[in-house]
This record gives sequence, C-alpha cells and structure tokens, in this order.
Amino acid sequence: MNDSKHEEDNSFERRQIIRAISNFEGFPALNPRSLRIIAMLREKLVNIPKLGRILERNQVFRKHFIMLSGVPDMGENSTKEAIRALGLLNVKHLMFSLLIMPFYSTNDREEWQHVYSTSVLITNLMKHYRIPETSSLPLTALLHDIGIPLLRKFNPGKYEQIKKYARDTEQLLEEVEDANLYISHSAAGGICVKKWGMHDDVFVPICYHHDHVEHISEENTLKEVLLMQYADWIDQTARGVVCRRPDDTRLRRAGMEMDDQYWLDYQTDMLEFLTFGEEEVDDASGAINYNKLIQYLVVPVGFVEKERRERERQRKQGGASAVGKVFSFDIAKAIKDKLQQKKMARRERSLSSFESNENGIDDLKPTENVPEETVTQVFSRPKPQKPSFSFDENNRPVRFRSDGKVLETATRVFKRPLFGDKDKD
Ligand SMILES: [Fe+2]
Ligand SMILES: [Fe+2]
Repeated sequence: MNDSKHEEDNSFERRQIIRAISNFEGFPALNPRSLRIIAMLREKLVNIPKLGRILERNQVFRKHFIMLSGVPDMGENSTKEAIRALGLLNVKHLMFSLLIMPFYSTNDREEWQHVYSTSVLITNLMKHYRIPETSSLPLTALLHDIGIPLLRKFNPGKYEQIKKYARDTEQLLEEVEDANLYISHSAAGGICVKKWGMHDDVFVPICYHHDHVEHISEENTLKEVLLMQYADWIDQTARGVVCRRPDDTRLRRAGMEMDDQYWLDYQTDMLEFLTFGEEEVDDASGAINYNKLIQYLVVPVGFVEKERRERERQRKQGGASAVGKVFSFDIAKAIKDKLQQKKMARRERSLSSFESNENGIDDLKPTENVPEETVTQVFSRPKPQKPSFSFDENNRPVRFRSDGKVLETATRVFKRPLFGDKDKD
C-alpha cells in the first residue's frame, strides 16, 4: 500500500484526533501578557526602555540577566546597560527561554533540555549563516517539540509506551506516534502554536520539522524549516537519539553549506558544558522550580567558544579553582557522570519491567506497510563511554567509542524515503 492511500485510510482517525486535541481541556495556555511580550520581541524595532521595564518585573531573572551581561548591578539603568552589552539576539533568546520554559514540566525535562540546547545551537547557526536577528528561529527552536508535552498530557500512558518503544527499537519517534495516535508531535505542536495565534514563520517550521519540504516554495520559510531540521538533527545525534537529517542538496540550494563534523563536535561540547543538574526539582513536590532553572540559562551566541577558552585556560593553569563558576567543566562533568549512571540504572530497571509487562506494547504497530526501499542507519543509543564522530565513505556520520571501536550499528526501516530522494532520481 502506498503512503497516500495509507494516509487516506486513516483520514477519519486523523480528523478525530486533531479535533480531540484542539478541544482538550488540558491544552497549554499562553497567557496574553506573555503573548504581548513575544509579539514585542518579534517587532523589527524592539522598544528597549519597555523591554527593560519587563525585565525588571522578575527579580530572579533580572539578577541572572545582569550577571550574564557582566555589567555591575547599580539599579534600573543597569538593566538597559545589560541589554546593550548582551545584544538583541541574546536578549531575545533569554526572554523567549524565560517565557517558554514553564510549558515543560518535570515529566518533560528531557524535552526541555533538548529544545533548549537546540535553541542555543540555532542562535549560533543564525549568526554563522547570517540569518537576520529579526528571525523567530530561537523561539521556534524552543517550541519545536511542544507537541510532545501536549501528547503526553493528552494520553499519558500510551505516550510513554510510544516514546519507550521508539527509543528501544531506535525508530523515528514521529513515525511511531503517527502509526499509533494518527498524529505526530510536529503536527500536534503546529496545532498548539496556531491556537496561540503564532504566525506562519513559527507555525510552519514547527509543523514540518520532521517532514518533507517539497511543497514549501517561499524561500525564507524553506531556509528556516531546513535550519530547524538541521539543528534538531545535530542535537539529537549528539545525544545519541535517532533523527532524520535534512537533504544536503536542499540545504545547499538554500545557500547553506553544512560542516557536519564541526557542528556535531560543537554540540557535543555544548552538551558537556550545558549540563543540567537535578537541583531545579523541588524535593518536596517533585515539581520544577523555575526560579532555579532560570539560573541555568546561558548567553547563546559564542557560548561554546567561551567555554572552550575557559577550559583551555583552566587546563593551562593546572586545574585552577572552579568556585563561583556556574558551568564549570569539572562540575558539569561530575554531574553528567552521575546522571549517566542514574540513567543506565533507570534503563536497566525499565527494561526488566518492560519484559514482564503483560499488557505491554502489543498495540504498537509502527512498521506496518513498510515499502521495499529501506535505509540503513548507523546510530545507536548512547553508551557509557563518550563517543566521537567520524564519517563513512557515503559521508554519513559513524560513532566511535573512546577506545576507537565502531559502535554497534542498527538497521532501521523507514516508511518513507529520505528527504530529497526524488531529486536524486
Ligand atoms: Fe521533534
Ligand atoms: Fe526535536
């Protein structure tokens, strides 16, 4: 059965789920004040005094913001000085992060960490590829997986099964979602931002961040969709999560010559520096303490370069004291090792419970109607040893363990051909 027939067969279920999600009483609400601030930040000429006044309202954020700028805190004028020192792109990223983070709850911490590091990366990609600062890409990146918390809230039990199944079988999450819920998180995210009244420059890249882009003709929109897909692919690959890369021909046609090795190394370093601890979760309630989470926000432009310089400086000084440094390499590494151990223990526990789960996963049918054409994917889930990247003869990334051995490869089967295959025919 071909794809269009398959989609046609499920059109009734798709309409039903779209209607049910749109009318879902737990649908995330963006309050009018946040919406006004976002609209203001998206204007071509941002009103700096007004932005300063908004910043003054959240004292925890203001304090962290001024600390990041390096400007001495001398009262009201310091906020304006800090805005000037950080530059508009960084300020907008920090403000968007503040406004969007409450949409990711304790259950969505993994997604928050992914969208946050992706948004830091995309801000650097924007700088590198000279995308105007007025672009909404940092906001888009923070919201691109908002469909995951939404679907998780909509159908908690089933969604956890879907996520676990996709992870354990190394299949694309959006395809497992589509086969079981008749909707993917990208489409659900599209519904969400459309309902909030966001414009197409945010809606389209979110809705199509895992999709084919043939029908997108508008040049700027296409460029932003491709950049969103690329940043998502880089971040997920650095995390060892299966993700589809946008087609190189299309990227080149959009004027973007990508150096995968450079950006994969860049993001791998970023994840090492940008380690989130567990301190942001309140012990008593188990809920995220957003005031603590604010303190993890970083200045996105040049963040990795700055941390690399700092690491180098510390190495030259023979491991100078890291006291007072929020994202110290040594502290970050210690936390990361601890989290990795916990993650492995959790994974072992969940695997053993999965094996004995009688009502388990039988209703998950992601590989039905697979076409004959298949693709071999060479990524696997993260192993305790830190992997590094290299490229095979087909210019696909291959992961190596620190002892130089190639990580086990996994053969994956896609329902649809890779992006751009039509072009190659
Ligand atoms: Fe996604
Ligand atoms: Fe993503």
